Amino acid sequence: MKNKSLVSISDYTKEQQLHLLDVAEGFEKNPRQNLLNNYVVATLFFEPSTRTRLSFESAVSYLGGKIIGFSDTSSTSVQKGESLRDTIRTVANYSDVIVMRHPKEGAARFASEVSKVPIVNAGDGANQHPTQCLLDLYSIRKTQGTLDGLNVAFVGDLKYGRTVHSLVQALCQFNCKFHLVSPLELKLPSSVKVHIKEKKMEYMQYTELEEVIPKVDILYMTRIQKERFADPMEYEKIKNSFILKNEMLQKTKSNMKILHPLPRVNEIDEDVDDNKRAYYFQQALNGVYVRQALLTLILGLK
Ligand code: CP
Repeated sequence: MKNKSLVSISDYTKEQQLHLLDVAEGFEKNPRQNLLNNYVVATLFFEPSTRTRLSFESAVSYLGGKIIGFSDTSSTSVQKGESLRDTIRTVANYSDVIVMRHPKEGAARFASEVSKVPIVNAGDGANQHPTQCLLDLYSIRKTQGTLDGLNVAFVGDLKYGRTVHSLVQALCQFNCKFHLVSPLELKLPSSVKVHIKEKKMEYMQYTELEEVIPKVDILYMTRIQKERFADPMEYEKIKNSFILKNEMLQKTKSNMKILHPLPRVNEIDEDVDDNKRAYYFQQALNGVYVRQALLTLILGLK
């Protein structure tokens, strides 16, 4: 993994992904280690973020490294018309690794082709979010004790949800059964379903949430993403399709956990937060350890 960009979750083998989770476990036990002393990590966020950017910056800070970058482009030369190619080639002169979020699908792959330092994709449009995927895998393994043979429900925006696309692809390595709950307009794209079919795994599609709750080990909720809709009326029609409430969690498997990449809008009622099945804030914390593991492996320090 040394010097290797992470653009899609499939850029790393199953063995590399599992090794990274093992390294992350070490950071969970001891997150403050001076491994990144004298290293510079650039975080270039062309699209809003709270968790991904700040957990990367927290990960670097706990490891004694330095951060440069921007959280929006308004104060950068992007406003003067600078191309992505030129921005990346410039920032690659100033840093050892670049973490980038961009609204366009394929932007991270392009950046990895023009950069002399590794690129970590922190989300490219509706395409992929591989570091979220790794922290999701970490959270699932930690709560279930395994990644194999699980029943996993994905709920909400399966069409534009980049976290869903990456995680479905990753779980196809582990013989899982997929329960896909979405409005008809936001079904999982065939370009992602093909991974399930290739591995001859089972998937079922639903338009009601209640049906899947008793069946699953992991209930992976997602937000209907207003920013992905060209027509605001289309968003208004389906924005409240699924709202998980505490009263709906009477009959679940005892090991069941609720995950969400966050941010949430109203798809999980706040009354669920104190339920023992709610794991989404711990999931966000796990992002620090997983990103510490990723950066130290890419830089050849682990
Ligand atoms: N999960 C996630 O990507 O959250 P942010 O958009 O806040 O980074």
